[in-house]
Amino acid sequence: MATIAAHGGTLIQQYQSNYDYHSLTKEIELDSFALSDLELIGIGGFSPLTGFMNKENYQSVVENMRLSDGTIWSIPITLPITPEKAASLEVGEEVKLVFSKEVYGTIIISEIYEPDKNKEAINVYRTDDLNHPGVQKLFSRPSLYVAGDIVLVNRVNRGRFQSYHQDPVDTRAKFADLGWKKVVGFQTRNPVHRAHEYIQKSALEIVDGLFLNPLVGETKSDDIPADVRMESYEVLLENYYPKDRVYLSVFPAAMRYAGPREAVFHAIVRKNYGCTHFIVGRDHAGVGDYYGTYDAQLIFSEFKEGELEILPLFFEHSFYCKACGNMASTKTCPHEKEDHVILSGTKVREMLKNGEVPPPEFSRKEVVEVLIRGMQERVEV
Ligand code: ADX
Repeated sequence: MATIAAHGGTLIQQYQSNYDYHSLTKEIELDSFALSDLELIGIGGFSPLTGFMNKENYQSVVENMRLSDGTIWSIPITLPITPEKAASLEVGEEVKLVFSKEVYGTIIISEIYEPDKNKEAINVYRTDDLNHPGVQKLFSRPSLYVAGDIVLVNRVNRGRFQSYHQDPVDTRAKFADLGWKKVVGFQTRNPVHRAHEYIQKSALEIVDGLFLNPLVGETKSDDIPADVRMESYEVLLENYYPKDRVYLSVFPAAMRYAGPREAVFHAIVRKNYGCTHFIVGRDHAGVGDYYGTYDAQLIFSEFKEGELEILPLFFEHSFYCKACGNMASTKTCPHEKEDHVILSGTKVREMLKNGEVPPPEFSRKEVVEVLIRGMQERVEV
């Protein structure tokens, strides 16, 4: 038994591989974002959600960061459709959910409604600037939302990385098997660099195990592709982490870049995967300079202590300090900026694409080798 209950109390299980959907004639075409959401609802990653949100829950989440029954929930989980598609559907009917001609699920339509996307942008993303990738995505999707409970009937084939796709029910069993009572979850959409490693290992000093849970759903096009990252995690764990204290499995969600709101969402979902603790460092799930460095930590103080149940662990901006000769943050290092090795994500991606090697104080050499090879293969394709 895992030591923490799923969010809302029950781990939702709506995957039925033998579900008979063949008599259904109508279908809704999913984008890859919606496919991720369908899968995560089905496997209980989004417990207590059993489907795409109705208007009441949607408005409550946008306005109050809670479902209408009061349960904390920070990101709308919605299924956009066009008005033309909506005209062909009826409330009460069950419809296939299709991606690339394959049926992945069904939905029993409970409602079709028009969202207030401006309000959604301002409340969830804290901006309506279309240069923000999450806001751009929000407005680029169709204008109506269809709500209803789903069944997941099929799983996405993940090729070589299939074994890293463990569902919450599996990770919970795994943590119990390993005897881990305190498990810290780590979200990332990037390769793991020294600063990530430092905060993970600092957390590992006070818990039983680390759940390295990289996000592998849709990300913005200049982020490093998931398959390249997966290989980089493998070499990092192989060389620098104790094998019996880390478990690597992926998070199939799409990235929203919603900063603070997404940090809360990331914590809730990791609770569903069985984590008792969750790391929130600097500018978690942020992009550009839309959010303050520690906004994603401050947002947790909006909830009553213990209400979320999973415990966020906050870390300062970390770096390698040449004068200290180790990893540090301003909490532990007295030296000037000149001694600190700090590179922006954009700078590092640029270096990797050009085959330049970021310094070992920034990233482990085995990781860099994989990234350079991976990024160059991409350029050649
Ligand atoms: S995220 O969008 O998935 O949050 P990223 O992969 O960069 O982005 O970050 C993963 C986690 O590490 C987040 O909790 C983030 O706040 C934290 N983090 C990233 N870089 C640093 C750093 N230099 N110092 C402290 N925390 C960091």
